[in-house]
Amino acid sequence: MERTDGIDVVECERCPALVDCRSRIVNGHGPVDADVALVGEAPGANEDREGRPFVGRSGDVLDEALGAAGIPRETVRIINCVRCRPPDNRDPHEEELANCRPYLDAEVDAVDPEALVTLGKVPAEHLLDRSVGVTDEAGEVYDARIAGAPRRVVVSVHPAATLYDPSQREALDRALERAADLAGESESGQSRLGEF
Ligand code: URA
Repeated sequence: MERTDGIDVVECERCPALVDCRSRIVNGHGPVDADVALVGEAPGANEDREGRPFVGRSGDVLDEALGAAGIPRETVRIINCVRCRPPDNRDPHEEELANCRPYLDAEVDAVDPEALVTLGKVPAEHLLDRSVGVTDEAGEVYDARIAGAPRRVVVSVHPAATLYDPSQREALDRALERAADLAGESESGQSRLGEF
């Protein structure tokens, strides 16, 4: 049984392993007309407890990096590919990503951001539909079709990667600066994404 309220998912039992593990569904957060949307992988323990994406240590890193790039967190929409916490923080399975994809597509469609930033390998590969080397490709902008519409996707490392390897911070900064540029271009009326 599935029930949504606008872009929020209120009830969903498509993924039995995630239904068993979660304490709640973690929907996207932030303004619904944001210029920049960040796409993470799946909620962790902190997000599952608080019901919002990126509230743990990786959220602290993300907030700080967003601030450094001149993008206040309150101005971005943050969404996960999968809305329920996977057991033992494992990566979501392909089937789980596919089950949650209509919700992600609907949210991207509704928010209609100038740039989507993928935080880590799972969201990058999910949206670009190919294998991605996130450290090497961080800051690169790709055109992708999402829910039938052309979108700009900026590849980034996951904020948590910088906790294990501080040298990854430069890649995170590069990606967020690129997203800030794309959002700024749209504000100044330059360079809109054309049909392709
Ligand atoms: N990592 C993610 O990918 N998403 C979150 O919400 C938190 C950590």
